[in-house]
Order: sequence, then structure tokens, then C-alpha cells
Amino acid sequence: MSKLLIHGTRKLEGEVQIHGAKNSTLPLMAASLLCGGECVLHNCPALSDVDTAIKILRHLGCKVERSAGDVVINPISAGSYDIPDCLMREMRSSIIFLGAIISRLQRAVLSFPGGCELGPRPIDLHLASLRKMGVVINEDHGCLDCSVPEGLKGAVINLSFPSVGATENIIIAGCLAKGKTVINNAAREPEISDLSNFLNACGAKIHGAGNSTICVEGVARLTGCEHHVIPDRIAAATYMTAAAITGSTLLVSRVVPEHLAPILPVMEECGCGIDLYDNAIRVVAPARLNRIKSVRTMPYPGFPTDAQAPVMAMSTVADGTSIFVENIFESRYKHVGELLRLGANIKVEGRVAVVEGVKRLSGAAVEASDLRGGAALVVAGLAAQGTTEVYGLHHLDRGYECIEKNLARLGADIKRV
Ligand code: EPZ
Repeated sequence: MSKLLIHGTRKLEGEVQIHGAKNSTLPLMAASLLCGGECVLHNCPALSDVDTAIKILRHLGCKVERSAGDVVINPISAGSYDIPDCLMREMRSSIIFLGAIISRLQRAVLSFPGGCELGPRPIDLHLASLRKMGVVINEDHGCLDCSVPEGLKGAVINLSFPSVGATENIIIAGCLAKGKTVINNAAREPEISDLSNFLNACGAKIHGAGNSTICVEGVARLTGCEHHVIPDRIAAATYMTAAAITGSTLLVSRVVPEHLAPILPVMEECGCGIDLYDNAIRVVAPARLNRIKSVRTMPYPGFPTDAQAPVMAMSTVADGTSIFVENIFESRYKHVGELLRLGANIKVEGRVAVVEGVKRLSGAAVEASDLRGGAALVVAGLAAQGTTEVYGLHHLDRGYECIEKNLARLGADIKRV
């Protein structure tokens, strides 16, 4: 089993170029099923979740070619409408294919996307919304058997929670539906706007992406298009915390600074200087970080839940006590136990985590149990005295492209063995 070996307390310096957003690439690949022609996605990251999405598209009958950062999808020959259980379990977000398969093939059979490290991952909002759009869904033996006897039709959907995945599924299902779909309390994440821009470039009629109310006018057909995936704002935030915890100056490039707006005040509160450029952010960290009074994760444009773990790692060596409140997922503190092994001082009470900053972390063997928690362990290991071994790299490889190569190039003493 491979692991990362980190000898800590080295400073970082230079520039890191951020890869395309995992959480945009996946819904874009699902949405390509709707297209009547070839789709070219540029700036796709080399991640195992993208590999899984390619496997799913090929299983459905699409032709998919990948070269460097480009993924070329031709959905013309798509004919299967099931996603095998093994692929559903490989990637929790395979549920994002549901709306696309139904729209393309009027049928979909897939298994429940089992729980994952962040707690139960319910899909009730996805299913209730699709049912309102005319989808008949039979759930038995852990399997979802979906059909549209009268075809997909537009509907007014009021989301009780601005779910990113549910918003994406409804937008995708609405593009070729009969009539107009209105989503109230829609998710506002940048990935929603990226999906809307892609589909509109293919001839869809989506208005309001990025706001809480989105309208989708059904059209008869979509063409293919070429599209550039937006940068991964969470990967960018992760490298910023790596610079902060090591007292470094780092240029994080190929980003959209405004996508990081919810995180910048937190970086400044702990004492980092932030310089903004057109598509880059420079972080100038102090010798010792100040504590962060409180971080509450919220739907965009609030503080992103995906950045909670790396920012918590950074706060473990800050001067003072930082408070975290995880409002999005039920149990997203699996990284706390591992941070304690590195000498952090953290107490978790339900959704609240209280982090007492310590002077120094000390290296240890730690295990990632989810993607962003794994990134937090790497960030902490960079500042820990001695050697840190990080196991569970398959979690990291789902969302970070060559993280150890990037960090080594910046001066960290890190390698995969
Ligand atoms: C997306 O997950 C992201 N994944 C997650 O990133 C991210 O943490 C999350 O949005 C929130 O920003 C992808 O885009 C592939 P949600 P998603 O539906 O769509 C509850 C990462 O590390 N909920 O907005 O699954 C749910 O349980 C991953 O890159 C329901 O109750 O998130 C959660 O508590 C992790 N019923 C909350 O809403 C539903 O039907 C937010 O979920 C759907 C969701």
C-alpha cells in the first residue's frame, strides 16, 4: 500500500498551477449525454473520479477519448441505461448521471449511491424533484428503476436545501423536457454556472445560474460544444493553507479569485497577506498564524464545507483558539482523530470543533478516510516536526492531481513510496 512520506517544517516557495475543478468536470461529463454531437472538455483534471466517470460513459455506450487535459465525448451511440453497482460505489457523485440518462434514454437503472465518509448521503431531493418532472422511480433491493411514461416535463421545484447535486440533476433533466422548469432555492456554487454555460453553448436555454432561482426552458435538441472547465477552487484553497501553515509565500495561479471570495477573509484573519491578480492569488504567510474566531460552513457564497478540513489543519498551529461549525454534512470531522495523532488539540461537540492552537505538531503515521480530510493531513504534515506518513492515498487521488509532485516542486520534502 503506498503512502506519502513527509519531512516537515520546510518552507514552500514559487507558483502552483491549479487543475480543473473535479466538481465541475463530473456534472459536465454527465450532461454531455444530452448532446447530439461531440463535446470537447478542456482543462479536465487527471483524477480517479474522472476516470470513473469515463468508465460510466463508456459503459453507457459513449465514445470517450482522453488526451492530456482534454476529454472528448461522443454520446451518439449511447444505448445502455444502467450504471453497475461497482461503478456507483466507486464514486458517490455518480447520482449526477441520473437526470442525464433518463433524459437521453427515457430509462435509468442504478443502485443507491451508498453512504460515504461524510455520513449518509441521502438523495431524497434528487428523487422528489425528478418525480415532479414525470419520472416514475421504483426503489427496491437498493436499486433505483426509473422511467418516464409520459416523458420529462418542466415543473416548479422548491428545494428545501440548496443541494448542489440535486440542482445539477434538475438542470440537466430540464434541458430537453417539455415546457419550463423553475428551481427555487437552487445551489449557487460556481460549478452550477459552469454547467449552465456548457449546456447553453450546446443550445440549452438556462437562465439565472449562480442565483437562487434558475429557469430552464426545454428545447428539442442540443448540439455538442467545446468548453473550458473552471479551476478547482477547493484545490486552490488547499494549497493556500499549505503556504499558510509553513509560513511561506506562494503564488496560486490559474484560479478565478472571485470563486475563493468566501475563503480569503479567513486567510487574512489568520494573518496572511493576500494579493489578487486576474487569474492568480499570492499568499504571504506570517511566521505564526493568528487563530480564526469562527468558521461556519454554508452553501455558496458562504464558506465551503470542502475547505473546512484543510483550514482546520492550518488552525492547529495558530496562536489561540479557533471554532469550526460544520453545517453541511453530518459527520465531516473524521480528520480530527488523525490530527490529534500529530499533536493537535481539538475537541468535537456534534457540529462544533474547538481547535486550541499548539506551538508545533510532531510527525506520525496517519490515515485519510475522505478526500478533503486526507488533504488536511498532508497540510498538517508539512508543518510537523519529523516524519509524517499519510495512508489512504486513494482518497486523495480522487480530488488532487499529483499533490506530492506539486508540493515537492515548491520545496516540500515529500514523496510517494
Ligand atoms: C457536492 O456534493 C460536492 N460533490 C461535494 O464535494 C460538496 O461537499 C457538496 O456539493 C457541498 O458543496 C460534487 O460536486 C461531486 P449536496 P453533493 O447535495 O451534491 C444533503 C468533495 O470533497 N442532501 O449539496 O452531494 C446532503 O446529505 C465533495 O469534492 C440531502 O439531504 O452535496 C448534505 O448534508 C464532498 N438530500 C447536504 O445536503 C439530497 O437529496 C449538501 O449536499 C441531497 C443532499
